[in-house]
Amino acid sequence: MDWTAFIALSLLFICAAGYDTPSAYDVLQQFDFPIGLLPKGATGYELNNSTGDFKAYLGEKVCSFSLEGSYDLKYKSTIKGKISKDKLTKLSGVSVKVLLFWFDIVEVRRRGDELEFSVGILSASFGVENFLECPQCGCGLICGNDQGRNGKLNRFVASS
Ligand SMILES: *[C@@H]1O[C@H](CO)[C@@H](O)[C@H](O)[C@H]1NC(C)=O
Ligand SMILES: *[C@@H]1O[C@H](CO)[C@@H](O)[C@H](O)[C@H]1NC(C)=O
Repeated sequence: MDWTAFIALSLLFICAAGYDTPSAYDVLQQFDFPIGLLPKGATGYELNNSTGDFKAYLGEKVCSFSLEGSYDLKYKSTIKGKISKDKLTKLSGVSVKVLLFWFDIVEVRRRGDELEFSVGILSASFGVENFLECPQCGCGLICGNDQGRNGKLNRFVASS
């Protein structure tokens, strides 16, 4: 084994070691959600296994960013809700700016390859592929030289 391979392998183990206890991102995946629903930097979570009630903690006081060509999002330092497979309800701590107003996202449901976000009277669906990567507070998905995501982002429309 040459040195490059050795260093690469060591780094791999160092990174992996940080993930021996499940993170908030693992919990999302356990319930069939993509990790990109949470921005980078989640510091912990609490989950009640019997009810699905959860709290996720972000290191930042307020985390905001915009998804290019789409929406501004804001995360509080504590995100709460109830999680079950393909269903996040009673969500609090995440808001989206639609036109000039901020709305709390109260529900996220996965239907096949689509995620449906609801702010109550309005909802919008986005392809799951838009959430495979975690956005970063401040710059979202275009940080540094990143090209960002190319997925198609729809508009919020009145729920029927
Ligand atoms: C989960 O929630 C139920 C109902 O609120 C409660 O009785 C139980 O103690 C909780 N379990 C944990 C581990 O917090
Ligand atoms: C909750 O359930 C998961 C998977 O079933 C398990 O790994 C974990 O230890 C449980 N946590 C608690 C607090 O019971």
